[in-house]
Amino acid sequence: MSFSIFIDGGKSVPDASGVLKWLWLRWGRYLAQRHAGVSLAPKCYIHPDARIHPRGLKLSIGARSTVSPGACIQGQVAIGDDCSVNAYSILVGVKDGPITIGNGVRIAPHVMMFANNHIFANTDIPIHKQHVEAAPITIEDDVWIAGMVAITAGVRIGHGSVIGAGSVVTKDIPPWSVAAGVPARVIKSRKG
Ligand SMILES: CC(C)(COP(=O)(O)OP(=O)(O)OC[C@H]1O[C@@H](n2cnc3c(N)ncnc32)[C@H](O)[C@@H]1OP(=O)(O)O)[C@@H](O)C(=O)NCCC(=O)NCCS
Repeated sequence: MSFSIFIDGGKSVPDASGVLKWLWLRWGRYLAQRHAGVSLAPKCYIHPDARIHPRGLKLSIGARSTVSPGACIQGQVAIGDDCSVNAYSILVGVKDGPITIGNGVRIAPHVMMFANNHIFANTDIPIHKQHVEAAPITIEDDVWIAGMVAITAGVRIGHGSVIGAGSVVTKDIPPWSVAAGVPARVIKSRKG
């Protein structure tokens, strides 16, 4: 059994019940905040096995939000209040492609958001030697992003929407939508 599982009991979400678990999550906060550019609201819970790094940019997480073990949040990312980033989700924002998450957003496990793409237009140059282009990703308030969803650069997901498991979201999703599939399409409106 790893030290981490011994301390936190093996839960896949941050659990601050009891002094030992509370101290364990304080350690998670310390690990995140030792990097300049990270700002955490006083009451948000960061598991020490999460990987949080601003990569020289600004990264913030709001009140009562939680980051689970294995989650990876990097670069220019702003997460609002009452959000959850579950195990093994990866969010990478860059200078010209910030990731902005509103309030009350649920991000299930294995979600991927990368706010840049490799350019591959030139077939005479290897892809890794061409540049990348960035565009912001914005998730408005009260959105549920289900497991294994990928969200590509430049996408905005509107207020109150649900994105079904396994979807690849390549275009904006209007508010109050339920969207699913590859590529994600609106399958219904929550407003009927
Ligand atoms: C999207 C979801 C919430 C269902 O929403 P719903 O409004 O109840 O939708 P329905 O089940 O009525 O499905 C409507 C249609 O969309 C399809 N659909 C639903 N979820 C889908 C998905 N993830 N991908 C592709 N199609 C999907 C259904 O097959 C159905 O198609 P049909 O009309 O051809 O039969 C659910 O399917 C889902 O993806 N749950 C996520 C589970 C998860 O990741 N949990 C993590 C916990 S944080």
